[in-house]
Amino acid sequence: MNHLLSLRELETAAEECLSGPQGTMAWDYYSSGADDERCVKRNIEAFSEYELHYRVLVDVAKRDLSTTVLGHTLAMPILVAPTAFHGLAHPEGELASVRGAGDAGALFVLSTLSNTAVEDVVEAATGPVWFQLYVYRDRAATEALVRRVEQAGCQALVLTVDAPLLGRRERDVRNRFALPEHLFVQNMFAAGYETVSARGHQGSPRLRPESGLAAYFAALLDPSLTWEVISWLRSITTLPVIVKGIVRADDAARAVQAGAAGVIVSNHGGRQLDAAPATIDVLERVVEAVAGRAEVLLDGGVRRGSDVIKAIALGAKAVLVGRPVLWGLAAGGRDGVAHALGLLRGELDLAMALCGCANVAAITRDLVQA
Ligand code: FNR
Ligand code: LAC
Repeated sequence: MNHLLSLRELETAAEECLSGPQGTMAWDYYSSGADDERCVKRNIEAFSEYELHYRVLVDVAKRDLSTTVLGHTLAMPILVAPTAFHGLAHPEGELASVRGAGDAGALFVLSTLSNTAVEDVVEAATGPVWFQLYVYRDRAATEALVRRVEQAGCQALVLTVDAPLLGRRERDVRNRFALPEHLFVQNMFAAGYETVSARGHQGSPRLRPESGLAAYFAALLDPSLTWEVISWLRSITTLPVIVKGIVRADDAARAVQAGAAGVIVSNHGGRQLDAAPATIDVLERVVEAVAGRAEVLLDGGVRRGSDVIKAIALGAKAVLVGRPVLWGLAAGGRDGVAHALGLLRGELDLAMALCGCANVAAITRDLVQA
């Protein structure tokens, strides 16, 4: 692992590990975006449009990377974004990921669509776990899931709002993406929504190629959600609700009015609307609209420690990373995940020193100029 010096090198190693038809299907699923995959690139490239106007002659002999997010003290301002189906990358799936995240001191966000049951993930965790929620058409099943997640000990709900339908990922359509027979949506057995098959959820053979996940979304998830879903959630749980998938100031303000404790500026890593803006470009507007009433996080294209500084300088409390964690998982299981997050942590630590920031509070707006 240690010979892989950057997330870019880890990405290449992961691609090599995911070979064969099953591996290729997993690689395509993890790396792809919607349509022409422009937004995937836009998220990454946008970061390079910002420069860091570093400060000099500050004592940075000791650096403190810790911060607080929703009352949790975290070792660093980097969280693991929710991503589905870790079983496609490694036999230990989300158990390896949550352990690797714990080793690196990163808060873990578990996807609704995990291959490991939420109880098992929380049990293996050494730090806080948040749960990312998809709302099913079947509200009773969704409510049962929320209760289960609460019971398991998750400490917040991350409600994803940018996926009323799944974006069209052409590689998944071509591969007829489906879960292999030994993998399931473990959290949804009770409702009977555990299989992701290219034949479509109803079991009817389809004539045209289709992503089994797109079919799963279309059949089972609720595309009619409105802002009321936040008050509904708040009526059934005391867990804080964080709204993920915001790119507009007015939506951020509505989320706060509806009672969200946090918002995540995200375009789903470019997997939904390909024409969506880069997240770093819209962050500051969202931060202004939220005006300190909730915490603002960001994900999408964070690949270097200096990206983390840029996001924090523009008002994010912390960032989340999606694909890099999957690369670590595919290339080295638990240790690979810890390595991916450790690389980012090391880069952040060095970049903070070079910017004259001995702690996260010193990462201020004046460091960034577009
Ligand atoms: C995701 N993402 C995601 N988001 C979510 O709310 N629920 C989910 O189940 C998933 N699943 C998922 C699978 C895969 C393979 C990827 C790559 C992404 C989106 C994720 O939380 C996050 O927004 C992006 O991954 C951030 O972009 P980067 O870090 O991958 O560039
Ligand atoms: C994805 C869904 C599961 O992006 O969020 O693949």
